[in-house]
Amino acid sequence: MAAGLIVGLRSMPYQLERVKTGIPGFDEILDGGIPRRNVVLISGGPGTGKSILSQQYLWNGLRAGENGVYVALEEHPVQVRVNMAQFGWDVKPYEREGSFAIVDAFTGGIGEAAKREKYVVRDPTDVGLLIDVLKEAIRDTGAQRVVIDSVSTLYLTKPSVARSVVMMLKRVLSGMGTTSLLVSQVSVTERGFGGPGVEHAADGIVRLDLDEVDGELKRSLIVWKMRGTRHSMRRHPFEITSKGIVVYHDKVLKLDRGRAREESI
Ligand SMILES: Nc1ncnc2c1ncn2[C@@H]1O[C@H](COP(=O)(O)OP(=O)(O)OP(=O)(O)O)[C@@H](O)[C@H]1O
Ligand SMILES: [Mg+2]
Repeated sequence: MAAGLIVGLRSMPYQLERVKTGIPGFDEILDGGIPRRNVVLISGGPGTGKSILSQQYLWNGLRAGENGVYVALEEHPVQVRVNMAQFGWDVKPYEREGSFAIVDAFTGGIGEAAKREKYVVRDPTDVGLLIDVLKEAIRDTGAQRVVIDSVSTLYLTKPSVARSVVMMLKRVLSGMGTTSLLVSQVSVTERGFGGPGVEHAADGIVRLDLDEVDGELKRSLIVWKMRGTRHSMRRHPFEITSKGIVVYHDKVLKLDRGRAREESI
């Protein structure tokens, strides 16, 4: 019987469930997508495309029937809707039908526009409170995808709690069955991924970069780690187009002492 079981297992290899980001070129370098329930750090300097990539991930989920929640800590929810609409990602109908929600962890409930928000964190510095509102939004929408933009805001004044904050979020996000992106801000010159120990707590890290080469800024990304799957180990160039991010999975960007070279693989 034991032998039969082993044969059975061999003939039926464990299939890892993946969440397709739907971002052109990105799933290719992730060997098909993000392993379900992973909590992935999207790390990078200012203007590298972290928010756009995360919003595109949520939008593609909605189009594929996977509900989503976006936690706005850096920008007004109204501004988030405007930014997304610029790429043709109009989330309002999804909010109305209850398949998408924005958690307002920005305004603290202050201002006229904030009064129209359904999910408001009254004190955005209170992580416990934020998690309570987030849980409610995930339950109401049945979200499978969550974005927190950004987690850095949660421990800016207390770097020592960074790891525990991320662990707390991970327990909730993964526990509720979501596959999530945590946006992490690093300074222009920083080599790391933002916050002490955060990089170990996350299941995956994708680093977005912007490098000035010969008077021109070049965008690239690299998958630093992704638990549960193999992935590209190369630095891939990407672009932000009028329809969102396009990753060139068949190209590699080589940075060498202020010079960049793009090569086909
Ligand atoms: N419609 C557009 N078409 C092409 N590029 C755009 C468009 N809108 C914004 N961008 C580019 O995207 C950048 C902003 O990207 P994004 O907001 O995702 O950055 P970020 O990494 O979240 O930055 P921050 O840490 O400051 O929030 C802009 O600086 C600009 O270069
Ligand atoms: Mg941003």
